[in-house]
Amino acid sequence: DTGKSVSTSRLVIHQSISSNDQNGFAQDVRPGLTATPKTLKPKYLYDPLGSLLFEAICLLPEYYLTRAETEIFERRAVEIVAQLPAPITVVELGSGSSIKTRLLIEAILARQPRLCYQPIDISETILEQSAKQLLEDYSGLRITAHAADYTRGIASIERRDGEKVLALLLGSNIGNYMPDEARELLRQIRNALRPGDGLLLGADLKKSRETLKAAYNDALNLTAAFSRNLLLRINRDLNADFDLRQFKHRAFFNEGQSRIEIHLVSLTEQIVNIRGADAQPALQVEFQSGETIHTENSYKYDLEALAALAKATGFTPSRVWFDSGGRFSCNFWLA
Ligand code: TRP
Repeated sequence: DTGKSVSTSRLVIHQSISSNDQNGFAQDVRPGLTATPKTLKPKYLYDPLGSLLFEAICLLPEYYLTRAETEIFERRAVEIVAQLPAPITVVELGSGSSIKTRLLIEAILARQPRLCYQPIDISETILEQSAKQLLEDYSGLRITAHAADYTRGIASIERRDGEKVLALLLGSNIGNYMPDEARELLRQIRNALRPGDGLLLGADLKKSRETLKAAYNDALNLTAAFSRNLLLRINRDLNADFDLRQFKHRAFFNEGQSRIEIHLVSLTEQIVNIRGADAQPALQVEFQSGETIHTENSYKYDLEALAALAKATGFTPSRVWFDSGGRFSCNFWLA
């Protein structure tokens, strides 16, 4: 914590040093782009423009995930929050705009007069905007927010006497982790909880290759813009000279690993200079024509894999809800 915090009587925003600082970014970009194959961490997709582009992706017809999860909350919010006895406090990892979370917040405020909501998000701009909007709309709400990556955020969960914690990891966030990383994150969450607390886990389900592929290859090309914005960010924040016109978005379903893979493909043989990448002199990165930077995975689960994940991380699966199309699952696990 930098000690820098925005504070009114109902809002505290903690800014973690590592969430946005250029040193962390530079330290991650350098090994990622000098490795074979080249990779970049997905959390860096969410700069202010990237976060807005992702919000827009959630409105696309092809990107069914957000709508499916919202439908579950619209129908089941009361039942979902009733899995824990009142009063509860809510911690959300990767809260973004918190739009879907409003449905849960309303269901909670219908059975307890006050709620402490603790969102954690890498994007400080989105966090601040959505927190202020939530406080205007719900007078019973208090917010303690963390502009941080998840690991730093969950270490500082607050709870009052007699409160249970409901942790939220929604929108297929878990899908962006490799299997071993997913287990590690869930164990960390479990360690921050006490027996009798709960986790609501959104997980996208395995389905036809066409549907999955379209969700990450939309006709408007917003996903391509979102993905390529990562290069724009490296240009700006690390003083690099990526020619965005020489990189293309590619997303496909890897059946063997049950994951969508997202790559940036170099369209020619080229050399990119990154002057701010933690190196003297500039880091020079060579690309072959057709070589890719692997920027993200989105793992697609089935119920068996989810049950195994719960078991491996110290949770007891207790309820699961689906959207009417059976595309997406919301899993309630007890700690
Ligand atoms: N969590 C989202 C998902 O896995 C993130 C996402 C959606 C994404 N579309 C993307 C990440 C395109 C990179 C590129 O569905």
